[in-house]
Amino acid sequence: MTLRFPETFLFGTATASLQIEGGDSNNTWYEWSQAGHIKDGTHSIRACDHWQRIDADFRLHEELNSHTYRMGLEWSRIEPQEGVFSEEALNVYRREIEGLVQRRIVPLVTLYHFSLPLWFARMGGWNHPQSALYFWRFVQRVVGHLGDLVQDWITLNEPNIYLTMGYLRGEWPPGLKNATAPMFDAARRLVEAHVLAYRAIHLQRPDARVGVAHHLRIFDPTGGPLSALSAYLHERIFQDMFLQAMTRGRFIAPLGRGYPLGKEKFADFIGVNYYTRDMVRGKWGGGPLHGVLLVKKGAPVNDLGWEIYPRGLSRIITRLWKRYRLPIWITENGICDARDEVRPAYIASHLREVHRCIQAGIPVERYYHWTLLDNFEWIEGESARFGLYHNDFETQTRTLRESGRFFAQIARTRSLEVPS
Ligand code: FCB
Repeated sequence: MTLRFPETFLFGTATASLQIEGGDSNNTWYEWSQAGHIKDGTHSIRACDHWQRIDADFRLHEELNSHTYRMGLEWSRIEPQEGVFSEEALNVYRREIEGLVQRRIVPLVTLYHFSLPLWFARMGGWNHPQSALYFWRFVQRVVGHLGDLVQDWITLNEPNIYLTMGYLRGEWPPGLKNATAPMFDAARRLVEAHVLAYRAIHLQRPDARVGVAHHLRIFDPTGGPLSALSAYLHERIFQDMFLQAMTRGRFIAPLGRGYPLGKEKFADFIGVNYYTRDMVRGKWGGGPLHGVLLVKKGAPVNDLGWEIYPRGLSRIITRLWKRYRLPIWITENGICDARDEVRPAYIASHLREVHRCIQAGIPVERYYHWTLLDNFEWIEGESARFGLYHNDFETQTRTLRESGRFFAQIARTRSLEVPS
């Protein structure tokens, strides 16, 4: 059976600046690598050396027949010191985006994806009372420089993951553990940062499409009322809280209440980063969420042990559509699979769910595979391989994987063969 995607549907890949560029020592992940936190001992300073290889790397999108590309901008390059903007860095990005546009590849630009300039982090990062204003100033500058070329923007990537890893688990910068009050404080400022950026982009470019790339997963209870309660709390605090605030301006507990920033629409699409599901087992005293997260017994998993659960994608899309009635872009979906054994099937099974939603009338408009090429995967370093291209980090040789060929064919034909 052939599944056909609409002619307007766009296929592409996603990356983040810090994870591919290399060469920048002015950001929080440089310091975090320096401090020896990366599990395999690698360092963000190397990554894919993309900053020096922008021209050569256009070929990667061409071979994949991509219609679009989600790329990030590194704030620490653009504003290396507080209030000082680098025309040079902005021009590098400008040339890169021009190169995409010339190749008819639609750019989708992420303004913040986990790494922060050191000056900003030293002031307290997202806990600084004016942090949203600093971000707003940066965004205005960027849109002033690139707004003629870029219509589609992601303000923030996965605020929930950033806060969980950086404020609860202490595994990412700023390295705090169980810092609940500072975490909710930072969450409020991130919402404010998104809202200010949303308005600023629209002021400069009224036809812009602006949204957040939300990390959404499935939380399924293992059984019994306490597990059900815990799954509900996880869903609410880990995702709905952010979705409601960043889509409609509505604050729900424990973030706050009402519409402190105005009752408006703050998103033109909902970005979905989807990877996996957690099973939630209730446990009194398992923290305020009363539960522990488990992997379903016997379920297929990726190299990092995350369950492969394609059905979760359509469950999430359907829920979002019912609640928000906004177009949905899959801004990330992919698998850590160094041997590329499961990736083709992973792509097919997840696209099948996307297709099912489109058939049901839901406007899912884009699919970005995470990721273009193996890169610097945060604390996992270079060892976790998510790329459609294999990357040899020593020689920076990119080699198309079998899954990449498969993806290229799907993008070219906008269709997918599946067993009926
Ligand atoms: C997402 C991140 C992305 C990458 C993938 C594997 O949570 O947005 O940068 O780490 O996971």
